[in-house]
Amino acid sequence: MLRLAIAGDLHGQWDHHDDALLEQLAPDALLVVGDLADGDVRLPRRLRALQLPVACILGNHDAAKDRSGSTIARMEQALGSLHCGWALRLLDPPGLAVVGARPGSAGGGFHLSDAVKAHWGEMSVFESAERISAAALAAPKDRPLVLLAHSGPSGLGSGAADPCGRDWKRPARDWGDQDLQEAILRIQRQRPLPLVVFGHMHHRLRQGQGQRRTIHRDRHGTVYLNAACVPRHRVDPQGNPLRHFSWVELAEDGEIRLVAHRWYGPQGELVEDQMLLEQIRLRC
Ligand SMILES: [Fe+2]
Repeated sequence: MLRLAIAGDLHGQWDHHDDALLEQLAPDALLVVGDLADGDVRLPRRLRALQLPVACILGNHDAAKDRSGSTIARMEQALGSLHCGWALRLLDPPGLAVVGARPGSAGGGFHLSDAVKAHWGEMSVFESAERISAAALAAPKDRPLVLLAHSGPSGLGSGAADPCGRDWKRPARDWGDQDLQEAILRIQRQRPLPLVVFGHMHHRLRQGQGQRRTIHRDRHGTVYLNAACVPRHRVDPQGNPLRHFSWVELAEDGEIRLVAHRWYGPQGELVEDQMLLEQIRLRC
């Protein structure tokens, strides 16, 4: 069984409590969905120092306000081999294939920011989809495959509360990425895809619209998890620090056994445990 900890959009929130918690929980791998620290390279360096397998994808905020591409280039360089944009990263151990989607995405279908174009170049939606799917189809078929994206795919619903739904402006609409959706369709024709993990669209909806639906399963059995619990640091009524990780347990044969959003106390105690697989079972 592979135990995966997933950190939603960090926005600078990573400290010694997170380091200590990971040491205590000892997941098999950590996946980080981007928007790390507004271009501050100290955070990627900190992720690199962790003593466990880590995979990361950069988000739209990782360019900061720098349209030249140099800030996002520095962030990618600071992450080194942890960054998996359009690439396959084999985590071995524990025996997991992680493929990154298009880095720097702000969602909204297919839009390349000036920073993304400056650093990674122009490309079409189909070229990006091809790069994602080619990386995924190069993964050994005997390893479970996870797609790691900043923005999730289009096709998961057009309501404000859907996993990639636009909530900050009416009318609500599907704000997912079309290249990722196309890549997923191509991959699913060739091999099982148990899990797609992403962030960007925060769980708490704007304008008092409540909480986002954060899990979805499609007809192929692929589970989609929005891990963007923002902020992921808070304190309990006694002032103790609480930290959020999403948590997935994945069997070696690719079956998803557990998906949860979890808040942990300073000693590693589980203080909130929102089990998500049950939500999609109830809808089936
Ligand atoms: Fe974002």
